[in-house]
Amino acid sequence: MLDIKQIVAKSIHNQLPDLDYQQIYENLEYPPNVDMGDVALPCFKLSKLLRKAPMQIAQELASGIPPSEFFEKVEAVSGYLNFFVNRPRFMEEVLNRIIDQHEKYGASDIGKSRNIVIDYSAPNIAKPFHVGHLRSTAIGNSLRRIFEFMGYNCIGINYLGDWGTQFGKLIVAYNLWGSRQAVEEKGINELMRLYVKFHQEAEKDPTLEDEARSWFARMENGDSQALELWQWFKDISLKEFKKVYDLMGVDFDYYTGESFYNDKTDAVVEELKQKGLLEESQGALIVNLEEYGMPPCMILKKDGSTLYATRDIAAAIHRKKEYDFHKCIYVTGASQSLHFQQWFKIIELMGYGWAKELIHVPFGIVSLGGEKLATRTGKVVLLEDILSEAIKKTLEIIESKNPDLENKEEIARYMGVGAVIFSDLHSNRIKDVSFSWDEILNFDGETGPYVQYTHARACSVIRKAGETEADKKAFNSQLLQTKEEYLLCKLLYEFPEKIELALSQLEPSIITRYLVDLAQGFNRFYHEHSILVDNQELRNARLALVRATKITLANGLKLIGLKPLERV
Ligand code: ARG
Repeated sequence: MLDIKQIVAKSIHNQLPDLDYQQIYENLEYPPNVDMGDVALPCFKLSKLLRKAPMQIAQELASGIPPSEFFEKVEAVSGYLNFFVNRPRFMEEVLNRIIDQHEKYGASDIGKSRNIVIDYSAPNIAKPFHVGHLRSTAIGNSLRRIFEFMGYNCIGINYLGDWGTQFGKLIVAYNLWGSRQAVEEKGINELMRLYVKFHQEAEKDPTLEDEARSWFARMENGDSQALELWQWFKDISLKEFKKVYDLMGVDFDYYTGESFYNDKTDAVVEELKQKGLLEESQGALIVNLEEYGMPPCMILKKDGSTLYATRDIAAAIHRKKEYDFHKCIYVTGASQSLHFQQWFKIIELMGYGWAKELIHVPFGIVSLGGEKLATRTGKVVLLEDILSEAIKKTLEIIESKNPDLENKEEIARYMGVGAVIFSDLHSNRIKDVSFSWDEILNFDGETGPYVQYTHARACSVIRKAGETEADKKAFNSQLLQTKEEYLLCKLLYEFPEKIELALSQLEPSIITRYLVDLAQGFNRFYHEHSILVDNQELRNARLALVRATKITLANGLKLIGLKPLERV
């Protein structure tokens, strides 16, 4: 792989062999403007070490480093040492590499033979699949694709919320106000109605809560009547969830929800006891975490039932045994941060060194027109409704822009769903996001449709040239003389670095931002210059640039779970 920072770092290291190579490498920067160079070393930090003024260091280095095959000029300017690449050489190398590697461009095998467990989506059975779970689904799916692209073996787990007192509530509500027919007809909406009604009624009559608890206890004790209802509610919910996953192009290796780990919690409680970690507190069993600045973590309730944390501990131990993970990643809302800190700590206190391989990836809240979305009150926006709305609106846009497009419905589906996923990934993970249709569907804004549209534009140029993206034609990079061409190429070059960054920060927005930059870079080039010119040599060179852009946009889109469309 071509790494221009590496070439620069080596040439500096040759001049200053006492410095640490890695440190030199890490200090290198890309100047904000290519007129100032392509790679720069700020010499300020070296000043103390070498007991010289930064400018002097830069000048001495500049005069000691001769121009090379890759760098035609080295300049010292106000304490910076600036390297200028030989542009034709650089462009030839970058474009050929992309065209050769094709769908592998940006990929690596650093993760070879390492297992990554990713726990994402995890909606709660019998409660609606709402936009909060959309973020977990979109982020988890993207992380999974990024890890896989880097050679890791990923195990995607949907840790469904399919156990807990909410089922007791639902059974009570169903027995009192529900009917088999209504649930069969209306599915999850009816379950949600019952769930909401339970909370309304329980405010007036608190004995309902006791009844719900006793139904849940029956479930835990293996009561067949309770378990049959539970299984039925679960099947109905899953059917609905799967519709959404199909639309989003998301899948999982396992649907092992909380209930799956239920028979594994006794052993956890026993182990905690043996290791002297449990304390009694008002009849319940807890792990005291005061020493670590955290509230106690409850493991067993007074009535003997387990909690969310108990099941998570059991699940982690099981996953470590089963998959021997290199990392186990949990994608949930930031409101659960304390929960994860607590039980990660408990795993550590149990003496498991792999506690440090457990990673919580938190994200901010999704709101719609500024309102938080909640389940208990019933003020929920269903993900499925959002997706179908997005598809409908996209179809309207296509009808007005390009009414003759073939397969309009299918394309609207990919673009509409893509728009929702993209907007969800695009803001920094930890930031709250607010949903606005105008923003996310804007074909000219920082959106999924904009990137997909640009990709289709590149495809269309290649088609008009009578070629395919896989064609490999020799081209003369000397002819790519303009700034737009060079800047586009430089963006293309940065793709592998961006993936590494997204992976190390577990931050898909690094990819979405990069894709917007790349699409903008391509569109600047496209608007300023004709590609299919009469001069065959120039045409070939420009087409190589288009082809490389097409490939890179497609690879990037796949990493965020969007479909690269050939036509829109
Ligand atoms: N079902 C939970 C929720 O909706 C998320 C579960 C996340 N995964 C986990 N292992 N705790 O908030």
